[in-house]
Parts: sequence; C-alpha cells; structure tokens
Amino acid sequence: MGKVYVFDHPLIQHKLAYIRDINTGTKEFRELVDEVASLMAFEITRDMPLEEVEIQTPVSKAKVKMLSGKKVGIVPILRAGIGMVDGIIKLIPAAKVGHVGLYRDPETLKPVEYYAKMPSDLAERECIVVDPMLATGGSAIEAINSIKKRGAVNIKFMCLIAAPEGVEALKEAHPDVDIYIAGLDEKLNEHGYIVPGLGDAGDRLFGTK
Ligand code: PRP
Ligand code: URA
Repeated sequence: MGKVYVFDHPLIQHKLAYIRDINTGTKEFRELVDEVASLMAFEITRDMPLEEVEIQTPVSKAKVKMLSGKKVGIVPILRAGIGMVDGIIKLIPAAKVGHVGLYRDPETLKPVEYYAKMPSDLAERECIVVDPMLATGGSAIEAINSIKKRGAVNIKFMCLIAAPEGVEALKEAHPDVDIYIAGLDEKLNEHGYIVPGLGDAGDRLFGTK
C-alpha cells in the first residue's frame, strides 16, 4: 500500500495558512503556492539516489556525491497544477513536464479528460503528479490512470490540501503511489469542496470566477 506523508514543516504550515486565507489575493496566492511547491519538492526528493563522483576543487581532488538514477517527470493536472510546476523546477531544472487536462463535471463531480501530452520516456522517469487539491480523488485517480496508460510506472502524488475521502480513494485505486500532502483537512462538503480548504484552487490562482 502506498504511504501517505503529511508535511508538518513550520514554513510549509505557515505559508499554507496564508494560502487558505480568503484575504490573500491572486498575486500573493501564486507566489505562496510556488514557494510551498518548492519546499515540498525538497522533502519529496529526500530519497533520490546519489552516486560518488570525483571532481577537482581549486585545492585538491574530491570524491563528492551527485544525483544518479532516474530522471524526473512533473505532471501537473490542469489547470491548478500548473501553479506548482515552477516551484519544483527551480529545484529540479532537468525535469520534463507532461500535462494532463481534467475538469470536474459540476453535477457528477466526475473528472473529464480534455488534454494529455507527456514526455516520450515517461517509463524511465520518476513521475510527480501535482495538483493543489485532492478532494473526491477523482481527478488524481484519472490523471494517474492516464499516465500509467502512457507507460509511467514510478509515480508520486503531491498536493497542498487533501480531504480524507480523496486520500482513501486514491490509495485504493493506486496502492503503488505514495501521497504527499501539506494539509490534511476535515471533510468534503455537499459540493465536493474541501472543508476548510482554500476554495477553488484554479480560480484563486488565475483570478477567474
Ligand atoms: C480542481 C482541483 C483538482 C480537482 C480536485 O480542479 O484543481 O484538479 O478539482 O477535485 P477531485 O479530487 O474531486 O477530483 P477543477 O476540476 O475545479 O478544474 P480547474 O483546475 O480547471 O479549475
Ligand atoms: N477543487 C478545488 O479547487 N477546491 C476544492 O475544495 C475541491 C476541489
């Protein structure tokens, strides 16, 4: 079964408080999502394999450690996942980015895929699927179905805020996927919104509605 990590780092929690706040405007919201995505990427990459290499410093030769092994693919779920991409790329500049476009039908709350474009070597990459919100879990489950169909095998899911219902659904549908969360909330309301949550992530990021 995939593991669930809830980040309790004080910087992440502090910034998440501002992200949730209704008085935080679009510009600040975007900047904070970017910063929290960076901080989460720092934690999420903790288990990346290293290899020893020899380099020359101005003083002597030195055996140092550098990243080895799998390359990274970041897969934002459109729209709101886009807000987390730059923050991760700052730390992992060689990562490639695949996009999957999904929207939740407002009546059924079921995800509808409208776009998918992935790096061709997805199977060789450690894929990090990103979306600020894991609510019913439908979008994350469908996005991961979509990348698995295209070859992805090594997958992590990272979100800012999750509802317990979404975490359970995602664990059940994709037991091989570890889930990384900044804030695990109380529940979903009758419209499928996370309580207390942050509202509509896409609208707050892009200033729509
Ligand atoms: C939001 C959010 C997730 C999804 C989560 O997107 O960004 O993708 O809802 O809900 P779920 O876990 O119940 O599927 P939305 O469908 O509002 O689309 P948008 O990003 O285009 O606004
Ligand atoms: N999508 C959002 O943007 N917010 C929620 O609370 C749930 C789904």
